Amino acid sequence: MVGLYRSRVAGVGSYLPEKILSNKDLEQMVDTNDQWIVERTGIERRHIAAPDQATSDLCLLASQKALEDAKLTPSDIDLIIVGTVSGDRQMPSTACYLQHKLGCSNIMAFDLNAACSGFIYSISIADQFIRTGVYKNILVVGAEVLHRYINYKDRETCILFGDGAGAWVVSRAESTDKNVIASSHMHADGGLSELLTLQGNGSLLSTSETPDENKNFVQMKGREIFKNAVRTMAACCKEAMEHNQVNPDQIDWVVPHQANKRIIEAVADQFKFPMDRMVVYLNETGNTSAATIPIAFDWAVKNGKIQRGQQILLTAFGAGLTSGSVLLRY
Ligand SMILES: CC(C)(COP(=O)(O)OP(=O)(O)OC[C@H]1O[C@@H](n2cnc3c(N)ncnc32)[C@H](O)[C@@H]1OP(=O)(O)O)[C@@H](O)C(=O)NCCC(=O)NCCS
Repeated sequence: MVGLYRSRVAGVGSYLPEKILSNKDLEQMVDTNDQWIVERTGIERRHIAAPDQATSDLCLLASQKALEDAKLTPSDIDLIIVGTVSGDRQMPSTACYLQHKLGCSNIMAFDLNAACSGFIYSISIADQFIRTGVYKNILVVGAEVLHRYINYKDRETCILFGDGAGAWVVSRAESTDKNVIASSHMHADGGLSELLTLQGNGSLLSTSETPDENKNFVQMKGREIFKNAVRTMAACCKEAMEHNQVNPDQIDWVVPHQANKRIIEAVADQFKFPMDRMVVYLNETGNTSAATIPIAFDWAVKNGKIQRGQQILLTAFGAGLTSGSVLLRY
């Protein structure tokens, strides 16, 4: 991955909606209980967007914080990428709504659908635009209002997901800067696409046509997803470490996709990463799909865990099945 320039993480920010849906609340809605959810997933609560909040509204609040952290203004941004599967509308893209809300004029803006890997996929693309010298400052957002696509009668899925947004400003680094994105490796295995789907409103099946309401909600084969999540994220961690010739001891923090604490524990176990160097914030957020990594990262920065100069490994998996890794010095 050679290039003219390298990119650095100039600023980070996140936003979680005010309303909280706790495990106790879910007990009133489906046949489940707090103890089962905590033991099987690690999730205690998730945040739910207000009825008048669109995904681009969440993006805006996270982006403003990331811009402030980067000491930049919207007019400095050259490109906006939003990783999401729950955008404001099927068309146009949420990134275009965000561009207008931020007041950035005439810059390229697009959405990227890689489900829960959407943020790291977007980072890998931002990194390429910086490396080639095309752009200097790129706003990358992972954001979801997933609760609108969740069946609150399905106890296997409704306990898992929540809403939120996280944003990074990725900027061209000085040639002497050591705090840069070292590598990104992205993958997809379309042969496993039916394990995790949201079928309604696509070209194969329009919402109005389907008598099966489940087709308008997230559907998954939980146990299969679990196994593939551990397998792919472990493989992605290995690939990043081998490519950069680093061993687990040289990595300060791993920020994995926040789907299930047991998945994170299983990945940590494979590399003897101690759990206290795995960033885990899903107890507070549930699975916010493309938003989990930037939300968890921002939380770890704000709470004095992740610090400038540290080596960080990001890894994600999601519907597709997509997966990948980013290794960087923050
Ligand atoms: C969904 C998930 C939490 C289920 O946990 P699990 O340990 O695999 O549980 P199982 O599916 O084996 O079910 C065990 C039992 O709990 C029950 N159960 C399922 N959901 C339950 C719930 N919310 N509350 C109480 N019991 C539940 C099952 O019906 C089953 O009962 P049975 O033994 O009588 O048949 C887990 O498979 C998972 O997290 N998978 C990955 C999902 C994911 O991350 N998706 C997003 C990817 S980006």
